[in-house]
Amino acid sequence: IERTLSIIKPDATKRNLTGKINAKFEDAGLRIVAQKRIHLTKDQAGVFYAVHKERPFFDELTSFMASEPVVVQVLEGENAIAKNREVMGATNPAEAAAGTIRAEFAESVGENSVHGSDAPETAAVEIAYFFSGLELVG
Ligand code: GTP
Ligand code: MG
Repeated sequence: IERTLSIIKPDATKRNLTGKINAKFEDAGLRIVAQKRIHLTKDQAGVFYAVHKERPFFDELTSFMASEPVVVQVLEGENAIAKNREVMGATNPAEAAAGTIRAEFAESVGENSVHGSDAPETAAVEIAYFFSGLELVG
């Protein structure tokens, strides 16, 4: 059983899509074992997305992530990391498969509704950034 860190991004919380996105996760067999709504500062978003610090879109990305509240959550299931990324769809919604969260809800490559960890090592770091062990209720 695996865990991954998911974020419902500002474009989606703003449009009241939290429930519809959570339904996609649960329908795919992912269990939400921790969840909270927070409003990141730009600095906190920058620490989270530090791997993208040198990318031209870093400033836009961190401003966006701090623009409205987000919902951070831990999803658990068999192959949760890969399964979550499958349910999310491609980064660019124009390339996302039909039925995926990004195909249905994302507005652009930047404002693409959800984040999901990309490997076990990053999932562990990202989960620890937002949650204490006591908050994970499997
Ligand atoms: P995450 O789950 O959010 O990490 O998305 P990803 O793994 O599908 O994409 P990646 O890690 O490559 O990029 C991280 C995030 O940066 C994306 O989800 C987008 O929100 C943003 N991003 C990526 N490319 C661009 C871009 O060209 N322009 C802008 N504004 N944002 C981008
Ligand atoms: Mg990524």
